[in-house]
Formats: sequence, C-alpha cells, structure tokens
Amino acid sequence: MALNVVIGAQWGDEGKGKIIDYLSEKSDYVIRFHGGNNAGHTVINKFGKFALHLVPSGIFYPKTKVIIGNGVIVDLHVLLEEIKMLKKRGIKIKNKLFISPRCHLIMPYHKLLDSLYENAKGKGKTGTTGRGIGPTYSDKVSYNGIRIADLMSPKVFSEKLKIQLAVKNKILKALGAKQLSQANIERDFFSFREKIKAYVLEPLPLIKKTIKNNQNILLEGAQGTLLDNDWGTYPFVTGSTVLTGGINAGAGVPVDKIDNVIGVVKAYLTRVGEGPFPTELANNLGEKLKTIGGEFGATTGRPRRCGWLDIELLKFACFINGFTKLVITKLDVLDSFPEIKICTHYTLNGKKVNYYDGDANFLTKIKPVYKILKGWSSPTKGVTKYNSLPKQAKEYIKKIENLVGVKVKYISTGPKRDEIIKI
Ligand code: IMP
Repeated sequence: MALNVVIGAQWGDEGKGKIIDYLSEKSDYVIRFHGGNNAGHTVINKFGKFALHLVPSGIFYPKTKVIIGNGVIVDLHVLLEEIKMLKKRGIKIKNKLFISPRCHLIMPYHKLLDSLYENAKGKGKTGTTGRGIGPTYSDKVSYNGIRIADLMSPKVFSEKLKIQLAVKNKILKALGAKQLSQANIERDFFSFREKIKAYVLEPLPLIKKTIKNNQNILLEGAQGTLLDNDWGTYPFVTGSTVLTGGINAGAGVPVDKIDNVIGVVKAYLTRVGEGPFPTELANNLGEKLKTIGGEFGATTGRPRRCGWLDIELLKFACFINGFTKLVITKLDVLDSFPEIKICTHYTLNGKKVNYYDGDANFLTKIKPVYKILKGWSSPTKGVTKYNSLPKQAKEYIKKIENLVGVKVKYISTGPKRDEIIKI
C-alpha cells in the first residue's frame, strides 16, 4: 500500500494537476481534502485538455475512484457543470465519484460577500478568485454553514437557509447589495439536489477499507503552501489548510499512514492576486516568463506575477509539509534564459532573516540575496531521460536539491502526461 500526498510548494499553480494525473494511474482513490473551485488543475491526456476545479484529477483512469472530501467547499452549480462536461467528453463518472455529505456548500450570498469584502478593503484587497471561498469557510468555523447533508433533507435545508438569509440579507442591504430570495435559492438547490444525490456518500468506510486492503491512496492538494490560512502570507492567503496536516481533518485520512509527501515546485515562481513576492520580476524578464510559461490563471484567466525561484520559501515549505520528494515542473520554460537566478536567502538591515520571522508587511522589506547560474540555452521540452538534459539544467536541479535538502524525483518538461523525467 502507498499513501501519497501531493502538495503545492509555492503560491499555487505549480502544475499539480498534471502530476496528480500522472500519479493517479496506480492509485485506487484520489481524494481532494480542502479548497473549492478556486482551484484550477490543468490536465492534458489522451482525452484532451481539461481544467478541473472540483473533481479530483484522478478521474481519467478507469480503475481510479475519486472522492471530494469533507474539507472541500462545494459550489454545486460548478460541480454539476464539471460532471456534465466530463460525461460529454466520454469520461465515466458513475460509481467513480463520491462526495462527502460533510462538505459545506458555497451559497449565493458567499459569492456576493466575497466581492463586497474585497471592495471594502480597497487597496488592501486580497485579490481573491471571487468564488466565495473566504465567506464560506468563515461560516463553517462560526457554525453558520450549510452542508450537503442538510441539502439531502429539504426541510432542514429550508430551515437553515431561512436563518442565514435573515442575517445575510441585513448585511447585503447594509453594504448596498441586492437581497436574496429564499424561494429562488430553494428552487436552484432542490434541482441541484436531484442531480447530485447519486454521488453523495460518507467516504470513511471506503478509506478504511482501502487502507485495510493495502491499496493506494493519493491526496490531491490544491493552492499552495504560501496560501495556507495559518502559514501563508496572511491576509493574502486562502481560507483553508493546504498543508499535509490538512488530510486528517479534510479527508479523514490518518497521518500515520502517509508514505510520501510530494512537493510540487515550479522551476521559477508565480503568484496570482495581491500580496508580497520578494523575487518578483516586474520587468521584461517577468513578462518573458509569463509569455513562455503561459502564466494565466486556470480559474480566473488573470495574468500571474512571475519571478525567480525562492529557496527561503521552498525550504520553509519542505519543513512544514515534511516533503519526502520534490517534483520540478515547467523546467522547459527556462530554456531560453542565458542567466537564471535563485534566491538563496533573505537579509534585513544586513542580517540574515527567515520567512517566518515576520508577516506579509515584513516580507515587503526584506532583501532577497541571489546566486546567478548560467542558463542552458537549449531545448528541454519533452525530454524524458535525465541524462538527456543539458549539463546546466542538471546543475540547476542539483543546486535546488542541495539548497533545500530534499531529492527531486520527477521533472516535468511540458504540459502533456508523458513529458516527464522520472529520476
Ligand atoms: P480565494 O481562495 O479565492 O479566497 O483567494 C485568496 C488568494 O488565493 C488569492 O490571492 C487568490 O489568487 C489565491 N488563490 C486561490 N486559489 C488559487 C489557486 O488555485 N492557484 C493560485 N492562487 C490561488
């Protein structure tokens, strides 16, 4: 049996979708354990190109089953559209997708509140995806959430909705927004209920059985370590626990069963939304990375900010998640850069400081210190053998391994499933 966890080591968009798709072949279950449709996992395989927001990326293999774990928050409209799209493109869903009844629902007022809170913050806004993520998680922790289990019983759903609307409509009114009608929400959600109920099942017995039978489980992380609600660059973070420990609370998977924690690292660094980014390249080089890397959000289409790889942040991600191996993605994007910089550490007033010594404001003051490496200036796109990589590309990989102390197991050299090196 193997229990593998895949976690984004940066600010999300590391290319986790492709890696999860690749690793899913040998997995009996692939489980999402946090986040919602703020995630956009791009998968390119023999069926075509997909941007999945809620359905776990393991869905494409005939024998792999997928679970939307209790820690995920669900926009049913988006989920049903995704299921429809997958079915239309020939992907089997029935008896393969299970949704925990404990998942909280993203309600229409959560989406409205997301943008109202962002507007209220003005220049200090987080730059959210606008999917209602923060307001849904805050209702969850303040015991105001509505769960899929509630929707399965229309009476319970209506009662809970009534209480929430009594409060939420007051807030919406105070903020100058349109108020919501119970009847309209019920009409939509009762129709969703009919379409979704076949997939709703408490997954814990399946997980226990899988562990007992020594089968393989893959936990699919979303977003990335630096967007974690506690350990990310707060308040420029997301609403969930994105770290390895999140699998326990968010999927009911015991942590003592973990075999591998795989950290996915882009060969450079990107961030969508606001917040500090010490190695950001707000110049031609950043533009070049964005263009070659196709750095536009899979969920919102927003351009991603680009910069050099930041080892200080990566070391932190390795420590906090307990990464046992790394995957480096998008190595080929650096092919035409004559010089490649790596930020090895930070200083403040001439003294060495760490990422965790301060907050988001502190990160705008530190100075990143770089090591300059010679680029390889030759194509690595589609390379599948480590020995076929140019010498400087191998040196780049070795440098990362040496600086963070974790071995690189896979290198992705293009978006397709087979454009990968296994070391
Ligand atoms: P939210 O998760 O929509 O509330 O957005 C909070 C922050 O997390 C914003 O900076 C978003 O751009 C960022 N974010 C959320 N999901 C993702 C993701 O899947 N990839 C990259 N950034 C994300």
